[in-house]
Amino acid sequence: MDHDYAEKLIRGRRATRAFRPEPVPDETLRAVFSLAGAAPSNSNAQPWRVEVVGGERRERLAEALVAAHAEQRMTADFPYREEMYAPVHQERRAEFGAGLYGALGIGPEDHAARSAYDAESLRFYGAPHAAFLFVTGDGGPRLAADVGAYMQTLLLAMAAYGVASCPQGLLSFYADTVRAELGVTEGKLLVGVSFGYADESAPVNHVASGRAPLAATTSFHA
Ligand SMILES: Cc1cc2nc3c(=O)[nH]c(=O)nc-3n(C[C@H](O)[C@H](O)[C@H](O)COP(=O)(O)O)c2cc1C
Repeated sequence: MDHDYAEKLIRGRRATRAFRPEPVPDETLRAVFSLAGAAPSNSNAQPWRVEVVGGERRERLAEALVAAHAEQRMTADFPYREEMYAPVHQERRAEFGAGLYGALGIGPEDHAARSAYDAESLRFYGAPHAAFLFVTGDGGPRLAADVGAYMQTLLLAMAAYGVASCPQGLLSFYADTVRAELGVTEGKLLVGVSFGYADESAPVNHVASGRAPLAATTSFHA
């Protein structure tokens, strides 16, 4: 196995927040979603259900999401609470936010601009496609973890094919809207992934996201 390839693929994947409009060819779509399905899961249950949108449907869904946001019709299948984060998580989140909004030229206290940017992100950051990852079965934490593994496998498969992506938890806050627009009847919405080809000229795509040092997260026992 080629270590350099693993370094490049895994560290080269990054959340992309500005896209070019051209769609991803069908054969590439089939290849990356087929690879994503090679993800591991508890007893190989494969508890994911994936809905991929592009074209007209993507336009309609973006409009519906923006409307749901404006009317504050939030329907998250997985509850979200700020308090779920530990203080060290909050420090990392603050550092990330400073880098992101700094690149966008949005000041720390400019809540209106931040919220407008959030609303805009419901248009998939201009990406021509989005994938919605649902957890089937009872949608409990073990099954959701399997879908998390699917998500990362998908992101890496896309990176290997030169397809840029952004996982967006925000999209999961409008689960009923996604269900209604796509006619989905099964599963809980974990996350949406916007994807397409990166607009490399956008400064937002050059924000570096650091990581905690190995020793901060990992212990080796012998
Ligand atoms: C489950 C999940 C949800 C995320 N939700 C959002 C989101 O709603 N909006 C966004 O812009 N980025 C979102 N991200 C991207 C993260 O901010 C990003 O992965 C993190 O800052 C690390 O940066 P990197 O992916 O470029 O390495 C999400 C990532 C994950 C894994």
